[in-house]
Amino acid sequence: MTEYEQLASEVRDLAAQRDAVILAHNYQRPEVQDVADFVGDSLGLSRQAAATDAAVIVFAGVHFMAETAKILAPDKRVIMPEKAAGCPMADMITPEKLIAWKAQFPGVPVVTYVNSSAEVKALTDICCTSANAPAVVRSLGAERVLFAPDRNLADWVAGQVPEVEIVAWQGFCPTHERITAGMVLEAIDAHREAEVMAHPECRPEVVALADAVLSTSQMLRRAVESPALEFIVVTECGLVHALEKAAPGKRFFQPAPEPVCPNMKLTTLAKVRDCLRDLTGEIVVAQDVRIAALAAVERMVAIG
Ligand code: 13P
Ligand code: SF4
Repeated sequence: MTEYEQLASEVRDLAAQRDAVILAHNYQRPEVQDVADFVGDSLGLSRQAAATDAAVIVFAGVHFMAETAKILAPDKRVIMPEKAAGCPMADMITPEKLIAWKAQFPGVPVVTYVNSSAEVKALTDICCTSANAPAVVRSLGAERVLFAPDRNLADWVAGQVPEVEIVAWQGFCPTHERITAGMVLEAIDAHREAEVMAHPECRPEVVALADAVLSTSQMLRRAVESPALEFIVVTECGLVHALEKAAPGKRFFQPAPEPVCPNMKLTTLAKVRDCLRDLTGEIVVAQDVRIAALAAVERMVAIG
């Protein structure tokens, strides 16, 4: 047995003893994805958290994702193998900054990307993920919306929903922001037949080069359904493992240097084992914040 096989077997035994479900984001390390019950994008994992019968949810991802699970499943114990795994984009807007911003636009509804803290969600009308942002904005029927914190996602949504004026907070994902159009053009040059899939957190000039702009799980579906045999994957490198499993025989390339989210990589298989054994890394959300954030998250989940 390899070290990973040994650890994976300990994790599965502990998960059974603890009545735990393991949710992992598509950017997690391959061995963490492989031990999980569900691997998915932010929206898919929120749905799994809301639907699970398990007593414990182990969230292998970043803090806002585990917090969203707790918001949707307050009676479950939600634990993170590595609580320090945050999202720098989520930290780019605070409740205080949001309150001041909203005050400049009285009556304008606020859409927040799930990549935000529970306190920020609690101050907003509706959440969205990369999988449903245009539908969420359309659902409001407003002429103008405030969109936080991702300016790149906001820019892409503005193109998809031209009838709505999007006022964007100027946050961004450092991992996606580092991907330049030049890097993507080099990959296209090297793989002329490949279909280009980009995450909407990429810069507008990178998004403009893509054949399809998709959430991570939408990329997985696209890789299976598309007749293309080669793909350029313009998002975090963890997704390539999930893609290779979902579409064996197809080939996946990335812009160089490969995009890495250091926070997503903080979770290791040993930490998954330790948190299941010790029940550490529990996520707590204050009840008043949770109720207010739940309203925004539930409105989103209802849209799909
Ligand atoms: P997805 O919801 O597309 O998986 O994206 C989450 C994320 O943090 C992307 O950087
Ligand atoms: Fe946050 Fe970017 Fe990492 Fe996603 S890839 S968790 S947006 S820092």
